[in-house]
Amino acid sequence: MQEPDFYVNKTLSRRAFEKAAKAYDEAAILQREVASRLVERLDYMLIEPAVVLDAGAGTGYCAEDLVQRYPDSQVIALDIANAMLEQTRFKLQNNKNISYLASDVESIALADNSIDLIVSSLTVQWCNDYLKAFAEFKRVLKPGGCLLFTSFGPDALKELRHCWAKVDNDSHVNSFVDMHHVGDALLNAGFENPVMDSEVITVTYKDVYQIMRDLKTIGAHNVLNGRRHSLTGKKRLQAMVAEYETFRNDDVLPMSYEIVYGHAWAEANKSVSVEFNKPA
Ligand SMILES: C[S@@+](CC[C@H](N)C(=O)[O-])C[C@H]1O[C@@H](n2cnc3c(N)ncnc32)[C@H](O)[C@@H]1O
Repeated sequence: MQEPDFYVNKTLSRRAFEKAAKAYDEAAILQREVASRLVERLDYMLIEPAVVLDAGAGTGYCAEDLVQRYPDSQVIALDIANAMLEQTRFKLQNNKNISYLASDVESIALADNSIDLIVSSLTVQWCNDYLKAFAEFKRVLKPGGCLLFTSFGPDALKELRHCWAKVDNDSHVNSFVDMHHVGDALLNAGFENPVMDSEVITVTYKDVYQIMRDLKTIGAHNVLNGRRHSLTGKKRLQAMVAEYETFRNDDVLPMSYEIVYGHAWAEANKSVSVEFNKPA
């Protein structure tokens, strides 16, 4: 059956991330910041997970924190792109508590009820079906286990989407799911007590070419089935760039990233002690 236009082409997406792995850290400033804001949330959770999964580990921003935060735990770095895992392996080569798994979060090669905590930063938005990924997270989590994740919301990349829309009707920029729908998908997948929030982080760039270069460097190509299959003409690109210039302020161009944060629990289990330790 043919996949819909808005579906991510997984073969292309994996290829893009494989290619991006070596240079990822040079351009992934926003991703590093989001990963650190995500794992900071673990400061307020009194949990002692035996097995932790970093789902969509990339070059290991979360995994690096997790192995230090939980020195007695086994951490599994999972990614669809082997080259990303190689980067994480290189950074954490002396750590015995981490293992590596090349797998798709929509079909995780792990046993049911085998994980206590899943952390996943900026990965589920690359899935075709949030529900499928969340159902997989729920399947591999032990009862009482916790999922903590980030994804992009609809306002991420909105300036770029707006400018391309002024130029043609093609799909140049991925679109992202509203956090309320993400919360619904969590409930439908069997999670309890989902907590969702979002914030917009604005990154500034010197020009549009830097924006496009950075997105390409981290592997964030448009890999939707419905993308334009021929090269974008020079005239259309120039028109988009001119449109983007209307956003220029203080000699820089802004790009908004709406970050959606979520956490939820696999079905309640009284024998697992989990409490929030709110700071005074
Ligand atoms: C934007 S990067 C984020 C990486 C890392 N979590 C971080 O915060 O820097 C997205 C990562 O998800 C991986 N990825 C994309 N789709 C995936 C899928 N379906 N299953 C597993 N990993 C996937 C990519 O290979 C890439 O490493």
